[in-house]
Amino acid sequence: MSKSATPAKPSGEPEIITILLVDDIPETRENIKKMIAFEPDLKVIGAAGTGREGVALAKELKPNIIIMDINMPDMDGIQATTLITESVPTTAVIMMSVQNDPDYLRRAMLAGARNFLTKPIGMEELYNTIRTVHIRNKPIAAQYAAVVAGGLDIRRAPADPTSEGRAGHIVVVYSPQGGAGTTTIATSVASGLMKEGIKVLLVDADLQFGDIGALLNLQSQSTMVELVPDVDDMDVELFEKLVTPHDSGLKVLLGPSRPEYAEEVQRSPDALSKILQKVSGNYDYIVVDTSTHLDDVLLSLMDMASRVILVCTPTLPCVKNVRFVLDLFDKLNYPADKVMLVLNRNPEDRNLKKLAIPPEKIEQYLKRPIVGKIPTDEMFVWRAVQRAVPVVASERDKTKSPIKELLDISNRVHHSLMPAEEEVAVEADDKKKRSGLSLRLGR
Ligand SMILES: Nc1ncnc2c1ncn2[C@@H]1O[C@H](COP(=O)(O)OP(=O)(O)O)[C@@H](O)[C@H]1O
Ligand SMILES: [Mg+2]
Repeated sequence: MSKSATPAKPSGEPEIITILLVDDIPETRENIKKMIAFEPDLKVIGAAGTGREGVALAKELKPNIIIMDINMPDMDGIQATTLITESVPTTAVIMMSVQNDPDYLRRAMLAGARNFLTKPIGMEELYNTIRTVHIRNKPIAAQYAAVVAGGLDIRRAPADPTSEGRAGHIVVVYSPQGGAGTTTIATSVASGLMKEGIKVLLVDADLQFGDIGALLNLQSQSTMVELVPDVDDMDVELFEKLVTPHDSGLKVLLGPSRPEYAEEVQRSPDALSKILQKVSGNYDYIVVDTSTHLDDVLLSLMDMASRVILVCTPTLPCVKNVRFVLDLFDKLNYPADKVMLVLNRNPEDRNLKKLAIPPEKIEQYLKRPIVGKIPTDEMFVWRAVQRAVPVVASERDKTKSPIKELLDISNRVHHSLMPAEEEVAVEADDKKKRSGLSLRLGR
C-alpha cells in the first residue's frame, strides 16, 4: 500500500478513516472486514445487513465512509444512499455491485454515491478507493460540519450551494462541412480561454462520432448519457463528479461512448442545454464541439450560446453551405456579433493558394468579415494529436502559426465577452476625451 496517500494529522499520527459496511450477505461483510483489518489507517466501526439498518447506523455512527451494496432486500443501496446523503452529508458512500448490473453507475451517482467497486473486490482497489474518496470528501464534510456548528439548517441552504457565480458563456464551434477543423478549433479555443482564474468546460456534442476523448486521450465511463435521463434532478455536484479532467486543467464533458447511444441524448433535445445551463455558474466559458448535423439538440445549444464560431474552409461546397447556415441564423434573429466567421485550412503554398477561394471573395459572398484565418499546418496539428493536447498547447512558442491564429481567436472571444476592467476604463476615458473635444468644438 502507498502510505503517501494516507493523510496525516498535525500530530504526525495517521488519521483513522472510519467505515460502515452495508451488505445483506454476511460472507461479503466478513471478507471486506478482513481485508480492511490489514490496514492501520482504516477501521470498520459497524456493519449492517439491510438498507434500513444501514441508514440507522449511518445516523448514529456518522462514519467517514460507507461501503454499500446496491442489491439488498427491503431497502436497496440506492434508496439508502439517497437517505444518507440527505441526513448525514458528511459521510461519503462507495457503492458496490456485481459486474453485470447494467446501469448501476448512473443510478448510484444520482443517489449521491462518490465512487464504485465491482465485485469481486481486489484489496488494492478497495484501499485506494476508500482513501481517494475520503481525501476528496474532507473539504465537503468540513463545510457541512461548519454549517451545522453555526446552527444553520443545511437543507435550507440555497438550491445550488456550489455555484460559483461565474458568467458561463457558451461558445459553440460549428461547421456544416465535416473535416473543416471544428474539433481542432474547439479544443484550442477552450485551452486558449483558460487563463488564470478562468474556468473552462469543453463539451463534446458531436453525439455520434465525437473525437475529443480520443484527441485528448481521456478515458472515462462517465458521459453526458448518464446525466440526460434525470436532468431535472441533476445537481451541480453530480455534474462535477461526471466531468473528466484533462492534465491541462480543462474539464471535459464527454459525449456518448458509442454512436448508438446518441439517441439517448437526442430523445430529449433540450436536455443537454438544460444541463449546461444548470452548471453555467461554475464555469466562465463552456466551449461546445459539434457535428455537421444541425438537429434540435444543436439548435437549442446555439440559441443559448453567446458566440457561435462558424468554421469555413476555402472550398466551394463549404462556402455554399456556410451561406445557408448564415441565412438560417438570420431567420433565427441571431445578432450579427453572435456569429464569428473563421477560415480554417487557409493554404500557405502558392500553388494551392491559386486553387482556393481567396478570403476577400468569401467575405464578399457571405457579406461577413472573417475574424480569423488559420493556415494549414499538418506538422503542428498532428503533433498535438500525438501528444494528446490542444494545438495551442503543443508548443511553447505561441507566435508560430497556427498557434498564434488560434490564440487570437480565443482572445477575441474573451475580449468581446469579458472586456478587461482596464479596457472598459480606457473606453470610458476615450469617451470622456471625445466629449471634451466635442465640447471644445462646440458640438
Ligand atoms: N489548420 C489545419 N491544418 C492542418 N490540418 C488541420 C487543420 N485543421 C484541422 N486539420 C486536420 O483536419 C482533420 C479534421 O479536423 P477536425 O478538427 O477533426 O475537423 P472536424 O471536427 O470539423 O471534422 C484532422 O485530421 C485535423 O488534424
Ligand atoms: Mg469533429
